[in-house]
Amino acid sequence: MRSEKPEAEEFAEQYGVPVEAARDYLARMAALDGDEQRFLAEIIGSQVGPVVELGAGAGEFTGELLARYLKPGQRLYALERLETIAQKLRETIRDDRLEVLVSDSRRVPLPDGAAALVISRVALHDFVSDDGDIAAALADCVRVLAPGGTFLVYDKIADGFGAVERESAEGRMERINVQLAALEGKRCWGLHRTADYVGLLERLGLRDVRQRLLPRPDRPGYVADLKRRLDQARPGYAKRWGDGVHAVLDSFLAEADGIPNRALPLAMVWGTKPGC
Ligand SMILES: C[S@@+](CC[C@H](N)C(=O)[O-])C[C@H]1O[C@@H](n2cnc3c(N)ncnc32)[C@H](O)[C@@H]1O
Repeated sequence: MRSEKPEAEEFAEQYGVPVEAARDYLARMAALDGDEQRFLAEIIGSQVGPVVELGAGAGEFTGELLARYLKPGQRLYALERLETIAQKLRETIRDDRLEVLVSDSRRVPLPDGAAALVISRVALHDFVSDDGDIAAALADCVRVLAPGGTFLVYDKIADGFGAVERESAEGRMERINVQLAALEGKRCWGLHRTADYVGLLERLGLRDVRQRLLPRPDRPGYVADLKRRLDQARPGYAKRWGDGVHAVLDSFLAEADGIPNRALPLAMVWGTKPGC
């Protein structure tokens, strides 16, 4: 087992922060991760049928689902809109239970009622569509959920903030996704509040909608690391979205140091599909 000290030292070195700050952050994260894992184990562990993960991205959560929560033989469909990202996911995770579906959430290539659980983690704020109508973007995901099945989203939220883009560097950073989507003529849902997620699930026809808030500690060195990562990503972004990317990134970089390094909390919101 790794001791906490080397991990904190490694973190401190990687992000250029004092070891004490790194140790404090990692201890807080470990406590919160434990809460999150217990809660997910409860919800996911009670499902015996197939699971659909929405907006799987490069598969960080997909890997966790398979390693930690799904049972032997339990099918996981990971839905991702972009082929390039889905391909990375396929290359990174090799597991007989996993099938990667490359598709927009408006058209899930599964029959009605195929899933016992539909779940997404830190994905919906990043969901893009032509019209920005998130309920329309998710209606087909509810179709593939079996009656009695659970629809669970958890995502970064703006609760506790007035103007989240000015009060949190992470909040400001999320605006970049909205701006990049606009460069390709799409609308990105962006950051919302827990109440918006509750309203969304109710509009989708889910019942008994419940919520749980998960605070996150501020990550030391977050802003400097983000600036570094965006700099590295710049050529790839420009290739994909064109020269408009430079104005988006430059305006962020000009403001980032003046915005507090406050982390966004996560909310879990879940409900049941009626009809069983
Ligand atoms: C923030 S990333 C996901 C992070 C991942 N869930 C995790 O926990 O590490 C959001 C992903 O959703 C995908 N996405 C966005 N809009 C989508 C849509 N309408 N349908 C399906 N996938 C979508 C994006 O391509 C992106 O890979």
